[in-house]
Amino acid sequence: MNHTDDFRFGHFSIDRWMRTVPGGYLADTRFGRAPARDVPDLLLKDGALRDVYMLDLALFVAAERTGVKVAAGMARLADDEATVTFLASQVLDEARHFEAFAARAAELGVPPEVRDRLGLDFMPGAYRTFLDTVLATVDDGDFEAGLIGLNVILEGMAFPLYEYEMRYWAPFDPGLVEVVEGAFRDECRHVGFGEKRLAHRLARDPGARRRVQKKVDEYARLMRAAFDEFLATSVAMYDAAVREHPDLCAQVEIIPGRSLLHTSTEDQVRWLEARILQGHARRLARIGLDAGRFEAAA
Ligand SMILES: [Fe+2]
Ligand SMILES: [Fe+2]
Repeated sequence: MNHTDDFRFGHFSIDRWMRTVPGGYLADTRFGRAPARDVPDLLLKDGALRDVYMLDLALFVAAERTGVKVAAGMARLADDEATVTFLASQVLDEARHFEAFAARAAELGVPPEVRDRLGLDFMPGAYRTFLDTVLATVDDGDFEAGLIGLNVILEGMAFPLYEYEMRYWAPFDPGLVEVVEGAFRDECRHVGFGEKRLAHRLARDPGARRRVQKKVDEYARLMRAAFDEFLATSVAMYDAAVREHPDLCAQVEIIPGRSLLHTSTEDQVRWLEARILQGHARRLARIGLDAGRFEAAA
């Protein structure tokens, strides 16, 4: 194990994590939210809004479950001490996210097998392939390609996507907003770690850089296909949910200055996609990778 790698203990240590996460913003929460914030009655009633809510939870659960497995696999592969300890804390973060979203779905009385079936049925195939590819990459022993897949590409989406989720659900379920906000804070730490670790590692290893670049190009193709698929398959569900609650949706702004009520799902998804691609392009450039395939549509 490498002791001298200049990625030091400190900012990303378990010691700091204990104080800022369990002893900090998670203090007094239960399953990631204030104890009193149960699922509101509005979402317990059958309807398009509940359907969309369940779908969002199912997709969160599936992605976080992959996060647990990938982070655990990378901890196994890590070859320096600070990375092992950081990834151990990340495994627990991802497991908490998984548990919190699963608990929200359970509050609706939906059994795990029904929730998971929903996630499988509605998850864009390209997104499923992306998640499976990241996992297979780690199974194959490629630490850097796994790290960029989970900590930079998947979790980098959290900046626009989790903000979107927080704005979308604010008038309907403040408890879910707290869960998402807590996960968002964790993902910021994971993305920061991934970016710094990869920039450091790839600057010293051109072979690894070429290998990671190839993987990044594949990830980019899959993510962009996933947005197209999502638009082709799931838009009607979201539009129906908005039509069900025009009074509450009028308060939501996804694109600043525009009510959700007057923003088509297509406009929302394309706006979100552009912000995600721009974020990825900026991060990849900082790591020293070519972001061409992300930039083309940004
Ligand atoms: Fe997560
Ligand atoms: Fe994460």
